[in-house]
Amino acid sequence: MRESNLSEVVDLTQRYLSQLKELGEEEIFLNRDLIASLSHLRPESASDLSKFYRQIKDCQLCPLSRTRTNLVFGVGNPAAGMVLVGEAPGRDEDLQGEPFVGRAGQLLNKILKAIDFERADVYICNILKCRPPGNRDPLPDEIEACKPYLLRQLEMIKPQVILVLGRVAAQVLLKTSSDLGKLRGRIHLFGNSKLVVTYHPAALLRNPRLKRPAWEDVQLARRVYDGMEPEGADDEEISLFRPHKNI
Ligand code: URA
Repeated sequence: MRESNLSEVVDLTQRYLSQLKELGEEEIFLNRDLIASLSHLRPESASDLSKFYRQIKDCQLCPLSRTRTNLVFGVGNPAAGMVLVGEAPGRDEDLQGEPFVGRAGQLLNKILKAIDFERADVYICNILKCRPPGNRDPLPDEIEACKPYLLRQLEMIKPQVILVLGRVAAQVLLKTSSDLGKLRGRIHLFGNSKLVVTYHPAALLRNPRLKRPAWEDVQLARRVYDGMEPEGADDEEISLFRPHKNI
């Protein structure tokens, strides 16, 4: 299908679904065979992402390339509607070449389950693709060198919502020095995606009292993914706090 035809189909479908919603329909039922027959509509993001991985896997743009075991590109569904962005690989991630596989990753899997996602439903990646020695904070030069890789991934995946994990990733993506407390709990705009910030799973392991606000954030991200949040006016952020349940 040509791109112009595809975007026409997407527009018409979006209009049809909005009309159904206005008429009070809460659910629609899709035939499994129909979904399978449409799955070829976005094959480019999967093959483009793996091609992109092959292009950058031997990256030498910053000194982290000399201390890494593996470049940690990202994992999950290349056509995901939700992308999670963490800070940088730790020891386990560096060894296995996959983001969030250590203790913080186990907790992240539970968080995803709590909002009805499997790891394979979303796409998970980091601001930095290589581990900073001793898990120190990323340096500005490392971020500058690596950030275009993440932006390219986001451009290919085009998620409805980006869930940002932790202060470092939030400050980089939102180009701000604001505290995490000020950035979480609301919807930001990032290009054509909505962006929600929450605490890093490692912070939740250190301080379980943060689980409650984190639960609010991930529920907010899920509602945005489900198209259940109001559109933001212009570039305004929408602040929303809703009831929570323990993760
Ligand atoms: N912390 C991160 O920010 N990313 C990972 O992949 C693992 C731990």
